[in-house]
Amino acid sequence: MQFISDQAGIMRRYIREKQNWDIHIKEVKDFILKSSKTKKKNKVVVLGSGWLLDLPLKELSGSFKEVVLIDIYHPKQIQQKAKKFPNITFQIDDITGGLIDFFYNHRKQKALISTIESFKYKIPENTDFIISLNILCQLHIILVDYLKKYNLYSDQELKMIEKQIQLSHINMLPQEKSCLITDFEEEIYDSENNLVGINPLLHLDLPEGNYSKNWQWKFDSLMTYRPDAKTFFNTTAIDF
Ligand SMILES: C[S@@+](CC[C@H](N)C(=O)[O-])C[C@H]1O[C@@H](n2cnc3c(N)ncnc32)[C@H](O)[C@@H]1O
Repeated sequence: MQFISDQAGIMRRYIREKQNWDIHIKEVKDFILKSSKTKKKNKVVVLGSGWLLDLPLKELSGSFKEVVLIDIYHPKQIQQKAKKFPNITFQIDDITGGLIDFFYNHRKQKALISTIESFKYKIPENTDFIISLNILCQLHIILVDYLKKYNLYSDQELKMIEKQIQLSHINMLPQEKSCLITDFEEEIYDSENNLVGINPLLHLDLPEGNYSKNWQWKFDSLMTYRPDAKTFFNTTAIDF
């Protein structure tokens, strides 16, 4: 389903947009470290660890007994890099709770939308701190793009799938142990920097949390994500 090529695309874009992305990455790392301060220090779990671009790995490895990195694929370079930290483990999991396999197996035969409500990801036992790392608004994208190729679902049904995936993710994050980082809307600018559109990326209400911070992530200033337009994300971080 292109998870690996999509991940490689993240790294290529980071290299192209480094200056803008580094500002966003610093915001994410600072927020995670602040949020980590009030949590017990046995096990921290990271959902969507990928290239670890936006994760303060060294600091978390220093302050928690155990760091569990979860992704559908862990780049070889990252597995190599983590070897110097004795308390890091990699876990390969589908964070949707199994929808990748489910939709692969049902790619030619339509599934009841209501059945996807039963797919729930179970976080590792005894987790003290869980970080949802820029994944909430991403979780459905590859799955929905994949389903579109088979023309089984209407646009409205695909939206329902998207919404259900997001709801299930947010509902599984435990209170007082969570740090959520996500984009919530995208702003589209033309080449003269005129705002030409704003699209919401989430179909749910985010928790107010104990505290939060918003900023803009200049995701694509070189107009490679969309032809002739720049895409910037409005991002939020919430401790709850
Ligand atoms: C936008 S990236 C997050 C940024 C990431 N922290 C980094 O530095 O690369 C999203 C990550 O989520 C992973 N991912 C997407 N869907 C997933 C799923 N259903 N289960 C597990 N991981 C998933 C991707 O492989 C990717 O590494």
